[in-house]
Amino acid sequence: MNSPTRIPGRRYLHSPGPTPLPDAVLHAMSVQPMDLADPRVDEAIAACEVGLKRVLQTTAADVFFYTSNGHGVWEALIENLSAAGQAFLVPGTGHFSESWAVQAEALGRRVVRTPWREGWPIDPADIERALREDTGHAIQAVLAVHTDTAGGVTSDLAAIRRAIDATGHPAVLVADVVASLGAAPFAMDALGVDVALGASQKGLMCPPGVGFLAVNAKAFAAAERNPAPRYYWDFVRRKDELSYRKFCGTPPLNLMFGMRAALELIESEGLEAIWARHALMAGVVHAAVEGWREGGMVDFLGKDPASRSVSVTTIATAPGLDVDGLRTLARERFQVAMAGGLGPLAGRAFRIGHLGDNNPTLLLGAVAGVEAAMRAMGVQVGGGTQRAIQFLSTH
Ligand SMILES: Cc1ncc(COP(=O)(O)O)c(C=O)c1O
Repeated sequence: MNSPTRIPGRRYLHSPGPTPLPDAVLHAMSVQPMDLADPRVDEAIAACEVGLKRVLQTTAADVFFYTSNGHGVWEALIENLSAAGQAFLVPGTGHFSESWAVQAEALGRRVVRTPWREGWPIDPADIERALREDTGHAIQAVLAVHTDTAGGVTSDLAAIRRAIDATGHPAVLVADVVASLGAAPFAMDALGVDVALGASQKGLMCPPGVGFLAVNAKAFAAAERNPAPRYYWDFVRRKDELSYRKFCGTPPLNLMFGMRAALELIESEGLEAIWARHALMAGVVHAAVEGWREGGMVDFLGKDPASRSVSVTTIATAPGLDVDGLRTLARERFQVAMAGGLGPLAGRAFRIGHLGDNNPTLLLGAVAGVEAAMRAMGVQVGGGTQRAIQFLSTH
């Protein structure tokens, strides 16, 4: 099927990132680049630093931006907090914890893994056990993926913090909030997270291209002590007043203008309202899955309703359901773009993103399009869209 050159109306974008951009963000980016001494450059970057710290709910951390995607800041984190041969503890959350672990190993670091149980969040007891076994304190940091975007499961960072504290182990707690920030409740300082790591293209409603690390004093001191050679990724070097040094080169000006606009939208809506809206949007999709699963061909991947993500729902499929075919049909005929299964879930799951610049009624359209595609393919499903309408009309 060929993609049309023009899509009448609008295609629903329900990948869990990139997410749709608000018009205000698009317009804010539509400016000519300027010379780096132009005061508008420093103003925009400073506004992004302040705004992002408010979204992260930190006054204790410094924010370092990188012209990169999430993998870039994963690498920045690894390079700053460890030297070759040192170790990280990576609790298993699925595809994204494993990808981060593999990246650390490729960079010569040792990785201690705790098991991933498909459909379940991190078990803090696994972390406690692994840290107690590390009597020589080789583990520099616990790398916790808050929401694993592949399985659509969110782990409990407060419980993870308590597990680390119970051991007295000095490891730094790093939270990957790429998929949760701006969607699920998160408060960096209150949770005792030492580094929060994120990217622009999901709950922050910006295009891909900006990653960040928010680093508190404990993690910054650990980086200062780290003897590993590094340059571009080094956040200690980036702690500077000059924008050019903050970005280790030319800042991505237009993206930062867009991010400032997005952060203003977040500020005006308010974090509590944003979290409530995401819970409602997730509720619409969950109601649809409750209906669809009655046909016996699809079900939630997340086993525990309380840890199902408010950003993305992963839907496990029965053998024989052609996931790629379903995605193509949903996108090309019904104008609903969704994501497939990743890593071990490839070919046996699809994912509906429900984060960022979205609202519950848009999600009704998305689930209706997905249901139409499943019915068109002859997939047996119960009345999911009906359930979703019923849910929305009563919440
Ligand atoms: C939780 C999480 N961490 C990291 C990444 C990697 O980000 P990127 O694709 O921007 O490199 C993703 C991407 O979806 C993600 O969902």
